[in-house]
Amino acid sequence: MPIPLPIEDRPIRVAVVGLGQIAELMLPPYLAHPEVEVVAVCDREASRLERWAPELPGALRTKDLDEVLAAEVDVVDVLVPTPLHADVGERVLDAGHHLQIQKPIARSLDDCDRLLAAAERSGARLRVLEDYVFFPPLVRLQEIVRSGELGEPVGMHLKVVNTGLGGWDVLPTAWEWQLEQTKDGRGMLVFDHAWHQLALAVWLFGPVRTILGWVGETELAPGYTLDAPATLAWEHEGGLRVTLDITLAVDTFWKSDFYSCDERVEVTCRRGSVRCNRISAAGKQEPSLEVYRDGEVRSFHTIPDGGDAGFHASTQHLVDLCRGRTADAVLDGATARQVLVALLGALDSSQQGAVRLDLP
Ligand SMILES: NC(=O)c1ccc[n+]([C@@H]2O[C@H](COP(=O)([O-])OP(=O)(O)OC[C@H]3O[C@@H](n4cnc5c(N)ncnc54)[C@H](O)[C@@H]3O)[C@@H](O)[C@H]2O)c1
Repeated sequence: MPIPLPIEDRPIRVAVVGLGQIAELMLPPYLAHPEVEVVAVCDREASRLERWAPELPGALRTKDLDEVLAAEVDVVDVLVPTPLHADVGERVLDAGHHLQIQKPIARSLDDCDRLLAAAERSGARLRVLEDYVFFPPLVRLQEIVRSGELGEPVGMHLKVVNTGLGGWDVLPTAWEWQLEQTKDGRGMLVFDHAWHQLALAVWLFGPVRTILGWVGETELAPGYTLDAPATLAWEHEGGLRVTLDITLAVDTFWKSDFYSCDERVEVTCRRGSVRCNRISAAGKQEPSLEVYRDGEVRSFHTIPDGGDAGFHASTQHLVDLCRGRTADAVLDGATARQVLVALLGALDSSQQGAVRLDLP
C-alpha cells in the first residue's frame, strides 16, 4: 500500500532512480528543500552513485532497484532513459510507492497505459515532471492571459532553435540513447523536446483536437540524425491554433548554464500579446517576459528565470502535493496521456507527408 497522503509530521522521503544528466537539475532542489529528505539513490553505474556520495552521505546508494523498493520511501522519482520508463515505473507503483517520472511519460501509448493502470491498481499517485509549466515567466504568462487584460487569446507561436555551442556538456550516455530514439521516428528534438511545448500548450489551452506534423532530418554524423527542421501545428478543443518551429543552428553560441536552446513562447490575444523570451537557456539579455498592449510594452526583469527555476518550483509543487496543500499532480497521468496522444499524432501526420510540388 502506498503511504497515505497527506504526510504532515515529517520530511517527504524521496528516492531517486537514475543519476544521469537530468539528476543534475533534479537533485539540487531536493537537497535545498527543508521539507525533503533524499533517502536513497540508485543507478546502474557506480560512477554516477559516487558523483552524489558527498552530497548524500546518509542515503542508501545502490545499483539494485529492489533495494530502493524495499526501503522506507514516500516518493520514487524515476530519471532513467525514456524507453525504460514503463518497466521501472510499473515496478515502483506495484511496490506501493508514489511515482514521479520524467517527461515524456513513455515512448508509446501502450507503455503509458501500463503506467496509468499500475497507478490505478496500487492507489499511488503518478506525477509526470514537466518543468516548463512551473517556469516562473510562463506561470506569469498564464496569469496574464487568464486575467483577460489582453482580451481573448487568438493564437500562439512557439519557437525552438537548438544551438550547438554554449550550455553544459551533456553526458555521452544521454546522447547515445537519445540518438538511438531518432531511428524509429521518435527523436530528440520533436519527441523528446517538443513534448515540453505540447505540454505547455495543453496546460494553457486544454486538449489538442487536431494536429499536423512535418518533421525533417539533419545528419550529424554518418548514421546519426536529428529530427529537425520540424514544424508542428495544432488546434485546441476551443479552436485556438498554435504553430511550433524547431530549427537546428549547430554553430550558434547560446549562453546557458544548462541546455543550450533559444526558446520563445508568444500568445497573441485580441488586444495585445505576451511573450516569454527564454526557458532553458539564459538567451540574449532581454527581459524574460514582455507584454504589448495599446502601443506600450511592459517588461518583466525580476521574475526568477534561470534554467533551473522551473525545477525548483516543481519540487515545491511535489511537496505541496504530498502535504495535501494541492490535489492536482501537474501533470497527472491523464494529462500526460493527452500530450503523448498529440505528439504521436504529429508524428503520424508527418509520415503521411507534405505535398511535393513538381517544379520545372
Ligand atoms: N525535464 C527536462 O527538461 C529533461 C531534460 C533531460 C532529460 N529529461 C528526461 O529525463 C530522463 C533521463 O534523461 P537523462 O538525460 O538524464 O539520461 P542519462 O542517460 O543522462 O541518465 C539516465 C541514467 O539512468 C541510469 N539507468 C538506466 N537504467 C537504469 C535502471 N534500470 N536503474 C537505475 N538506473 C538506471 C543510467 O545509468 C544513467 O545514469 C529521460 O526520460 C529524459 O527525457 C528531462
